[in-house]
Amino acid sequence: MRSVKFQPGKKISRLSVPTTDGWKPGAENVLSQLKPGSILAVQGDLGAGKTTFIQALAKELGIKRFVPSPTFSLMRSYKVSPAVNGIKRLIHVDAYRLKNARELMVLDLDEELSDGGSVLVLEWPEKVEAWLAARMKQTVKLSIE
Ligand SMILES: Nc1ncnc2c1ncn2[C@@H]1O[C@H](COP(=O)(O)OP(=O)(O)O)[C@@H](O)[C@H]1O
Ligand SMILES: [Mg+2]
Repeated sequence: MRSVKFQPGKKISRLSVPTTDGWKPGAENVLSQLKPGSILAVQGDLGAGKTTFIQALAKELGIKRFVPSPTFSLMRSYKVSPAVNGIKRLIHVDAYRLKNARELMVLDLDEELSDGGSVLVLEWPEKVEAWLAARMKQTVKLSIE
């Protein structure tokens, strides 16, 4: 049993997710809040279900490739075809192993996000708080517990 907590001010503030394959309603809800250039910050402890949730989101975007945890690869990118709400690419970053926001700069994420079709989902946003703070307007936050 897990639950998703949405940012204050959203219609739904919390959603219970009883099983590993029960993330679809949460993924649908979040997807409706995203558009090209959005950053989705997914907070939660190790093993909370961040990657599992992002796998459900990828499925909603029609991504058929397996979406592994990018803890070691740092970043993975998936084509969304056909586009969903203008979203053509999903970028999945896991900042767990990063020490600070500067280490994120090498990924050129701003460049990726300004191409008009990409959405970034970020695990461990607290590791790169400074980077995220500068991009607050385009950020949607949620936490899993
Ligand atoms: N709704 C749920 N209820 C119970 N267990 C879950 C749920 N969702 C995922 N899990 C399990 O919790 C673990 C979470 O792993 P993962 O998604 O990799 O977490 P994180 O990315 O936050 O470290 C997996 O073993 C998964 O099967
Ligand atoms: Mg993970």
